[in-house]
Amino acid sequence: ITNRTFTMIKPDGVENGHIGGILEKITSAGFKIVAMKYTQLSKRDAEAFYAVHSERPFFGELVEFMTRGPIVAAILEKDNAVEDFRALIGATNPAEAAEGTIRKLYATSIGENAVHGSDSDENAAIEGAFHFSGREIF
Ligand code: CMP
Repeated sequence: ITNRTFTMIKPDGVENGHIGGILEKITSAGFKIVAMKYTQLSKRDAEAFYAVHSERPFFGELVEFMTRGPIVAAILEKDNAVEDFRALIGATNPAEAAEGTIRKLYATSIGENAVHGSDSDENAAIEGAFHFSGREIF
């Protein structure tokens, strides 16, 4: 399914009151929300979701951060979804993110960067399936 991507509003985005602002940016940019939930990752969930980063020095910090409060998880649909969504969120480090991007507007640091966006069609499918069953996707 190449027209979908997966996103999370991370704990910092939720804590700082940006759920509405971020969803507004997403829908205004032409993404359709086909699945969405308010949830919290367990330590086990976060370690599995970020397994690709398990050898990185920031892995422990990343798991701690991603589990410290609720997140909004969603599957988004649009032509060229993965690439267009990564352009909308901006660089991982908000200091390097372009004007008008979600991270420029709402992220506070490279670790606490407000949103996740899948980096490939393959990962979008894997990450979407991690959070949603078929019956939760519309
Ligand atoms: P994201 O690209 O969504 O997924 C991997 C996450 O690891 C990234 O967002 C950041 O939240 C986090 N991350 C990446 N680099 C660093 C870093 N240097 N220090 C702390 N966290 C990081």
